[in-house]
Amino acid sequence: MKVFQHVHDLGDLATALREAQDIKHDRFQYQHLGRNKTALLIFFNNSLRTRLSTQKAAMNLGMNVIVLDVNQGAWKLETERGVVMDGDKSEHLLEAIPVMGSYCDVIGVRSFATFESRKDDYEEKILNQFIRYSGRPVFFMESATVHPLQAFADLITIEEYWAQRQPTAGRQRPKVVLTWAPHPKALPQAVPNSFAEWMRAADVDFVVTHPEGYELDPKFVGDARVEYDQRKAFEGADFIYAKNWSCPGVTRPEDYGKVLSKDRSWTVDAAHMALTNNAFFMHCLPVRRNMIVSDDVIEAPTSIVIPEAANREISAQVVLKRMLETL
Ligand code: CP
Repeated sequence: MKVFQHVHDLGDLATALREAQDIKHDRFQYQHLGRNKTALLIFFNNSLRTRLSTQKAAMNLGMNVIVLDVNQGAWKLETERGVVMDGDKSEHLLEAIPVMGSYCDVIGVRSFATFESRKDDYEEKILNQFIRYSGRPVFFMESATVHPLQAFADLITIEEYWAQRQPTAGRQRPKVVLTWAPHPKALPQAVPNSFAEWMRAADVDFVVTHPEGYELDPKFVGDARVEYDQRKAFEGADFIYAKNWSCPGVTRPEDYGKVLSKDRSWTVDAAHMALTNNAFFMHCLPVRRNMIVSDDVIEAPTSIVIPEAANREISAQVVLKRMLETL
């Protein structure tokens, strides 16, 4: 695998899920693959889970790991070609990327949406330069529009918990609901985009609910059912996946990246969860309590946010293993 960005990069999902369980059974069985190989993890933005889980996954595979926080200790980078570099940016990405590629075997990059231009964000200008100029396999550790390591971990988690509820062959598809929830700041659409993309590829009954104006890009949400009545969407749900996102600018491009609502009636609380089929609660974390979700819901036995985060190690390890196998 040379690029990990979309669900189709993994090939057959059932095979990938079996590989995840195989790794979970013994995470150190493929150490020979990573011997004398180096993973470079580049962060343009903050991280707790992605940073730690991806490092751990690489170490499980016997790799060396270098982590670079671009904004802490590296030269400030210019990303636009043609700019007269007479400001505070000392180095251009076009030199920095191949130099970084020369020190490693695989590269993971985190670079969020800037909200300056919907076109630039949705064209993945930064990550595509890494793909083009690094000479290395590149995996997305959350980009302007996608967070595939998170979505893969989410799917692994849904599979595991649904298997506990419906252990027999011929089990029904779970109803999985992605719900928008309020947040004080403008957040990117990467997590909901990838979650929608992966749920559409998975064997689940997928529903998205959000206030009007928050429609996700059709490239990701496709023909998934959209229900503007959050309570109706929650009825009979087996999994509730809460997340905030700013306006994707699908219906009104001028609103791209804006916070259109902070309506706390969308906060997932016990009354919402009572409408579900005793649903599991999921969130990618970090989460703002009592904005996105109430204390009692995230602390309930049906909250699976911690095992969901733990599965980030597994999703990263499958991806790194696939990349090592094709070096
Ligand atoms: N869910 C997630 O990607 O967490 P971090 O931003 O802490 O890496």
